[in-house]
Amino acid sequence: MSIEFKAEAGQVPVLLRPEIHLPLWEGVLEDPSYAPTVMIVDDVDLNRRLLKAMLRTAPYRILEAKRPSVAFSMLDREKIDLIVVDLVMPEMSGIEFCQMLKSDRRTQFIPILMTTGVQGIENEVAGLESGADEFLLKPLKPAVVRTRVRTMLRNKALVDSLEEAETILFALAQSVEHRDKYTGMHCERLAAYGIGLAQALGLSKHDQLALFRGGYLHDIGKISIPDSILFKRGLLTEEEWATMRQHTIRGEEICRPMKTLAPVLPIIRSHHERWDGSGYPDGLRGEQIPLLARILQVADIYDALTTARPYKPAFPHQQAVAVMLEEARRGWRDPELVPLFAEVAGHQDDDELVTTMQHSLDNMRRELAG
Ligand SMILES: [Fe+2]
Repeated sequence: MSIEFKAEAGQVPVLLRPEIHLPLWEGVLEDPSYAPTVMIVDDVDLNRRLLKAMLRTAPYRILEAKRPSVAFSMLDREKIDLIVVDLVMPEMSGIEFCQMLKSDRRTQFIPILMTTGVQGIENEVAGLESGADEFLLKPLKPAVVRTRVRTMLRNKALVDSLEEAETILFALAQSVEHRDKYTGMHCERLAAYGIGLAQALGLSKHDQLALFRGGYLHDIGKISIPDSILFKRGLLTEEEWATMRQHTIRGEEICRPMKTLAPVLPIIRSHHERWDGSGYPDGLRGEQIPLLARILQVADIYDALTTARPYKPAFPHQQAVAVMLEEARRGWRDPELVPLFAEVAGHQDDDELVTTMQHSLDNMRRELAG
């Protein structure tokens, strides 16, 4: 991935090229400095030697494990890019081995090529059902093994790069928030409130995940807003406001190249729309505003009201809810979501609310991390 910045003295880095350029995988695999690690798990020495010989034509780093237990301890220590495993092994079958790897989030994306000398379509079906990505019958044909391994490694490199790109975007988003010392932990609280409200609405895990990501990424476009505007004391001019409003569009542009962030884009673009159509950037009104963006907005306003800012103290929960209900009455906010949020949050005092919401966030994190 390639993101370039231009930073001038005293200014925010300007994102010059937000597109994510995926490297040409063919070239990457041929680069000797990038030696993918292939682990062969097979109790028969001859089989491992044969496979090693077949893969010698490419600059792979080969690790060998005689038994699944040895393979698991290697997986704890090493970054493995692909596993070739035999169906029949001591300790556990290749199928059980595969199931264990695919049910663990740390190893689920490692591609697995299963091999066997045991004939029968049922083995192939069981192998693929256990999570193996490819299945080859012995005797192995060197050209077929090499091609399969190469294709699987290319896909793995792509998955790694997307994961890395998303991690970089999250880090960038947090750096935007951390520049503003008054909003420390803002993203975390937003994600927690958003998920709490989504759960109260019975929304899917998919939507909750989008809100989790939206909590962190919604203001990433602020990276392109100069400090002189972002941190200006006093009122912004009309021109400065126009620049400030651009953060919604810039944020969407930054995240758009990542397909996995597609569900988050409406949140990023529309989190400043208003129910009565007076918001930005598109002047959407009512239910034209995506639901997840409306949820994040309720969370955002509540957080702004209940934390101290240079121009105001932190409001207690009841006062914050009263302001939000008044804004809903005036037609600015979703007239159903705001009372629901007030109800969800209203059964608890401030500390309890944060604890409960934090709990939702921790659960979501655990699910993401495995
Ligand atoms: Fe914003």
